[in-house]
Amino acid sequence: MLVTGGAGFIGSNFVRRTLATRSDYDVTIIDKLTYAGNRANLEGLDVRLVEGDICNSPLMNKLMRGMDVVVHFAAESHNDNSLAGPGAFVHTNLVGTYTLLEAVRAHGVRLHHISTDEVFGDLALDDPARFTEQTAYNPSSPYSATKAGSDHLVRAWIRSFGIEATISNCSNNYGPYQHIEKFIPRQITNILAGGHPKLYGTGEQVRDWIHVDDHNDAVLLILERGSLGQTYIVGADNDHVNNLQVVRLINELMGRDADDFEHVADRPGHDMRYAMDSTKLRTELGWAPKYTDTTTGMRAGLAHTIAWYEQHRAWWEPAKERVEREYSMRGQ
Ligand code: NAD
Ligand code: TYD
Repeated sequence: MLVTGGAGFIGSNFVRRTLATRSDYDVTIIDKLTYAGNRANLEGLDVRLVEGDICNSPLMNKLMRGMDVVVHFAAESHNDNSLAGPGAFVHTNLVGTYTLLEAVRAHGVRLHHISTDEVFGDLALDDPARFTEQTAYNPSSPYSATKAGSDHLVRAWIRSFGIEATISNCSNNYGPYQHIEKFIPRQITNILAGGHPKLYGTGEQVRDWIHVDDHNDAVLLILERGSLGQTYIVGADNDHVNNLQVVRLINELMGRDADDFEHVADRPGHDMRYAMDSTKLRTELGWAPKYTDTTTGMRAGLAHTIAWYEQHRAWWEPAKERVEREYSMRGQ
């Protein structure tokens, strides 16, 4: 198995989970080790890491020899960065996916493409609808537009060239090894560093949060039992939890006053609400999230994630000052 972006957050958790739950995979990772990729994410794992760019066609063709399957996580993944500098998103998410598609086509390798709910745009807060596999694409940011483009490329290569591929669109992930630029680890590490959580705008935006292990279990299931050519929505039914509630819950779980946080400048074009309908994945493949809970659906997963950041200060502390400096330059 070739895993692109396997040194990042979801990819490294995927590799760890695959090796822990399956004995029959031999894993190679291709990762550019951008600011978001980290060798330390793979410590203790029996894998081969190739440092390189998925846009490098000769390298991708070389790596494809002898592979049975590719799982494609590599991407520029942060909305705020895509507003500050969209070029890298076009390069990796579009040109990178195109390069990979040409390589799997040439070598007849099965592909699973990892995508996001953000390709569908957003819902109004009072709209009870949820995204399904049939929802029309309507991306808002350079990040989501380039992810949407990559999904279209995969579908075009399935239909036009008959490549063997599946796609999954998942909601916002959280868990260990997530870069501290992202919402949940930023708040946890702000508190651990002696600062305050920072909430964009009013905090009424809703993200359908899912623990990274639940996402990766879905990916493994699709890889092993999914129907070729199909797309699967992955979500854990947390579309009733807004950012303000998440910040309050983190404060509470870390023994603080729930309302001890700062409001900071809002994100331009901020998507309001994402909500996922994962009926197809649940009924056809029997997937169900394990991190569920009757109140917010996140309490156990968040407590486990907070403990991980408490125990892995050396992993995140070196990046903290730079990340916060960049946020503060944007008033965030
Ligand atoms: P991440 O930013 O933590 O990791 C991305 C990895 O890709 C990094 O290791 C980086 O070094 C690597 N990479 C970037 N450009 C590359 C290139 N040109 N060549 C090779 N490697 C390159 O991202 P993540 O949060 O783990 O997201 C992984 C995938 O899951 C992405 O495709 C993202 O769109 C998708 N996704 C993420 C979420 C989420 O909540 N984080 C939700 C749904 C889908
Ligand atoms: P983020 O983790 O960047 O994911 P995405 O943009 O893919 O949803 O942000 C999640 C939500 O949290 C989003 O509504 C923006 C908000 N947010 C904050 O309120 N404060 C922060 O410091 C960050 C990084 C995000």
